[in-house]
Amino acid sequence: MFDLILEIFFLFLNVIRFNLISLSKYILPYSLLPKKDLHKKRVLITGAGSGLGKLLTQKFADRGAILILWDVNLRSVDELKDQIRGNGGEAHSYEVNLCDPKRISEVAQMVLRDIGKVNILVNNAGVATAKLILDTTEQDINTSFGVNVKAHFYTVQQFLPSMLNEDDGHIVTIASVAGKMGSAGLVRILKILPYKAQKVVAEFFGLIQSLDRFHK
Ligand SMILES: NC(=O)c1ccc[n+]([C@@H]2O[C@H](COP(=O)([O-])OP(=O)(O)OC[C@H]3O[C@@H](n4cnc5c(N)ncnc54)[C@H](O)[C@@H]3O)[C@@H](O)[C@H]2O)c1
Repeated sequence: MFDLILEIFFLFLNVIRFNLISLSKYILPYSLLPKKDLHKKRVLITGAGSGLGKLLTQKFADRGAILILWDVNLRSVDELKDQIRGNGGEAHSYEVNLCDPKRISEVAQMVLRDIGKVNILVNNAGVATAKLILDTTEQDINTSFGVNVKAHFYTVQQFLPSMLNEDDGHIVTIASVAGKMGSAGLVRILKILPYKAQKVVAEFFGLIQSLDRFHK
């Protein structure tokens, strides 16, 4: 009983601590905030070949991280790797179709063996079919759920164990504001109903990970 009371007490202290930290981060200008040391940290980004993934890659490289770049389009991540290496950084590129769990596991094992433990996993890749639900084919559903939802589980299964072993690591889930709110206009104009559903799941996946933390 006493253990339980103590546990609840420390839980509340932690809740207050995290709220104060969040509040200070919200109020203070970004330039004044303390930055995590990313030098030589291994950062794996899925869908690194374009858009947000590419931008994140460049930002992490500027901070001295070792980049592990996954994309279905090998040429795009090869170019990025060459660019980072040309600037004196370290990067590795891999062709991974996130709809293929066997390939995810194969390349993850290769990464763990050849490069080492991943410190930060960024599940960034995402696809939108841009179709209304009645026009969506089985193939569309499999591909979009494969990339937007299922791949998150498979990558975490590969990299979380070593993070837990060392009690250190970050998993970043890129969801979308589309998963937070419904909008008839967006569905009508952009036709992103299945995408919205998947991003809701991605949001919950982030929550499940936070809860999993308490299993340790
Ligand atoms: N662009 C936006 O307006 C926006 C808004 C909210 C959220 N997001 C989310 O941000 C993330 C990045 O979006 P973006 O706009 O940069 O996308 P993007 O289309 O520019 O890039 C996605 C990358 O994922 C790769 N990819 C696609 N299918 C893949 C697969 N099967 N296996 C491996 N890689 C695959 C693509 O080759 C591409 O390099 C996504 O999760 C997206 O849902 C984007």
